[in-house]
Parts: sequence; C-alpha cells; structure tokens
Amino acid sequence: MDNASIMPSAKSALLYERALKVLPGGNTRTTVFFKPHPLYAQKGDGCRITDVDGTVRIDAINNFTSLIHGYNHPAINAAVTEQLASGMCFGLPTEAEIDLAELLCDRVESVEQVRFMNSGTEAVMTAIKAARAYTGRPMIAKCEGSYHGTYDFAEISEGASPDRWGERIRPQSVASSLGTPQGVLSDVLVLPFNDVEVCEKLLLEHAERLACILIDPMPNRVGLIKASPDYLAMLRRVADKIGSLLVFDEIIAFRLGYNGAQGAGSVKPDLTTFGKIIGGGFPVGALGGNADIMAVFDPRRGKPSVPHGGTFTANPMTMVAGQIALRLLTPESFDYLHRLGEQLQNGIEKIFKTQGIDGQVTGAGSLRRIHFGSARLHDYRSSYADGAKQQRMTALHQAMLRNGILMAPTGLMALSTPMTGDDIGEIIDAFGKSLSSVAAS
Ligand SMILES: Cc1ncc(COP(=O)(O)O)c(C=O)c1O
Repeated sequence: MDNASIMPSAKSALLYERALKVLPGGNTRTTVFFKPHPLYAQKGDGCRITDVDGTVRIDAINNFTSLIHGYNHPAINAAVTEQLASGMCFGLPTEAEIDLAELLCDRVESVEQVRFMNSGTEAVMTAIKAARAYTGRPMIAKCEGSYHGTYDFAEISEGASPDRWGERIRPQSVASSLGTPQGVLSDVLVLPFNDVEVCEKLLLEHAERLACILIDPMPNRVGLIKASPDYLAMLRRVADKIGSLLVFDEIIAFRLGYNGAQGAGSVKPDLTTFGKIIGGGFPVGALGGNADIMAVFDPRRGKPSVPHGGTFTANPMTMVAGQIALRLLTPESFDYLHRLGEQLQNGIEKIFKTQGIDGQVTGAGSLRRIHFGSARLHDYRSSYADGAKQQRMTALHQAMLRNGILMAPTGLMALSTPMTGDDIGEIIDAFGKSLSSVAAS
C-alpha cells in the first residue's frame, strides 16, 4: 500500500489493514473511502479535526455538511450530556420531539407537521411513500445526477455515466446498484436539471402516473448549482396541473438560510425532507408538509395509510442536540456563514486566475464546490468530471490533506460557525499550495 501521498498516516494505515479483514474493502461508508486508505479520526474541536496520527486539519467538510457548529460546541454538549443522564432512548415519546418539530414548523412556512427518522435516506423514502399513498400513483420524477440517499427509487441515475445516460432530452433511468428491478427503473422518470421546456414535456407525458416530483434546490452531485426560479416555478405549476406532489429535498440545502432554501424563493413544496444539520451531529431525518398530506401517518383511526415507526426514531439525544443546533442558527449566524462562503469562493477563484489554471467554484451560503474547467455548469452532464478532471480532483484532495485541510474528495466544502476569517484564509492558502503542486505533477 502506497501511503506516501498522505502524510503522516502510519496509524491510519494500520487501522485500515485491520478494517480490511472485517469490513468489505475496509469500508462501511462509501463516501469516506479514498485511496490508498482513509485517514481515521481521533477527535474534533471547533473547526479542527485530529486524525489518529495526531495530525490536525481544518475540517471543511463537517461530516458531509451535517456539523454546522463544528465539534465540541458547549451548548450542544451540555444538552446532550444532560439528556444522557436521563435516558438515551425510550419506548415512549418525549417532549423534545415536539420542541424540534415546532422549530421546523416555525421556520418553514410550507411545513405544518413533521415526522422524524434517523437518516436522510429514510426521510426521502418516507416522502415518496407518503406521496404514493396520498395520490394513489406509483411513479416519481427526479433529476439526473441528483443524490437523495440510497432508497431504490431515489438513487436512480445518481452518478449515471456517459455510456449509459442516453439522450440529454430523454435521460435513461440508470440503476445505481446492480440488480435493481426493472419495475423500479420504469417507475422513475429522470429529468434533465434546469431545462424548463424539456422537463415540462416529459412530466406531462407521465401526468397520470406521477406521485411526486423530487427536487433538491441545490443538488451537490449535479455540480452544486441552484435550480433556477423558472425551473422551480414550472415544477410547481406542472405538479398542480397533474395532481402530483412537489417534494423539496433540503437535507443539505437547509443550510442555505434561516427558512431553508425555500425561504428565499416564491415556490413552496408540498413536502420537504430534512436531515444533517437538524440533528446537531446525531443521526437524523425528517419529513414535513401540510397537515392534510401528513395525515397519511396519523394512527388515530387504526392502521395509517403509511405505517411508519423506527426503534430510534425521534430519540431524545438527537432531538435535544438538533434543537440546540437550530436555536444557535440565528439569521445573523447565517449571514456570518454566508460571508465566510463568499470569502472562500473569492479567494479560490483568485488563485485559479493567478495560477492560470481553468477552474471555478459553485455553491452558495456555507456550501462551496471546486471544479476544474471553466465551461459554464448548468446541469449534471456539464458538471460531470471525466477521467482527467477526476484525476486532478483526486490529486487536489490529497494535496489539501497534506496542506492541512479536509474537504470531500469531490471538492465539496461545508463551513461551520466556529470558523473565522483567518481559518478561511488558511483554507485559501492551502488551496494555493495544493493547486500549484497539482499543476506541477
Ligand atoms: C440531498 C441529500 N438527500 C439525501 C441524503 C441522504 O441522507 P443520509 O446520508 O442521512 O441518509 C443526502 C446525503 O448526503 C443528501 O445529500
């Protein structure tokens, strides 16, 4: 195993050797795998993460966007420690679930009622089931490339490759996992992101079968570009016309503002999925919507249209951590994060320019993604990193690790409230050094 490319990582290399025996490929979470082996975390504090070899880095991915307050926040720690002493989970509901649901309903206008889960995958799965139960229809529509977790229907065409994705104006339904039943593929309509005309036509072709249209307002794997207001307005209009539900996946995009991504626009969805930051660092998912639709879960008249449980659902550890994390996220803290995001973007763009390398930064708020190449990114296909671009991104990721920054291997970064302007400056400096080493290699 060549681990000269990430230094120093002797203990991580040894842990990985152990992991290889008991975990497939030494891994139990595809997203945290990279070659020659991942670095193993020891601890985190504020915006810094220390690996098992004692190397400290700025954490610019924050558990794939979920830790908006970084590590070791005193208020979250205190609330969780207090809850731990009273019981970590019960076979009864707790007041904490009402508190967190109230917070979400207060912040998001389209959400009157909430149902909790333990992951974003479950939230999207449950949204799809609710839409099917409510409309009596089987099919969903989703955008090509968009990631919504690993439920069979939701994962169709995430990561579709050029040899399989078909015509741009009529993308193929591409299985993400081998062995996906044909029935699943047939019940997912794949849409080209942000193409108003083409999507409207495709949606109308399937008008009578569509239970819901699932859209992430700023999908990371589509390039971390925003859905245009016109596109969202078209989805809303068509959904109403054909009697299908509009579902916003705000599992990452809820980072975009105090009222979520939808707070900034005029289009309101019927259902919204949440996850990541609303758990304060603990496993979470949630589904919200108006009371009429959410009634599919109501158990008061016997078996509901969508039975939904979950042993650890709404566990009070997650509920109290999430509640504190959200209360800490004031409009001012969003403004602060947005300023840091702009500083990061400007700094990186300037370095691309001064080094004469084609590159760009997408994203908004506390989320940014680095891309090689300067062609305008407008959908999954234009953002798709081919072999050469992917190789350069892998080299950049490794160089960033060597220069003290943990970002996602795809170039995604998610900022946190303990970061300062100086920390962003450190990330930018590390990017400068990393980019020149990638260019020289
Ligand atoms: C937009 C979106 N939806 C759904 C999910 C799935 O969430 P989880 O990983 O909590 O299952 C993710 C995870 O990254 C996501 O980014």
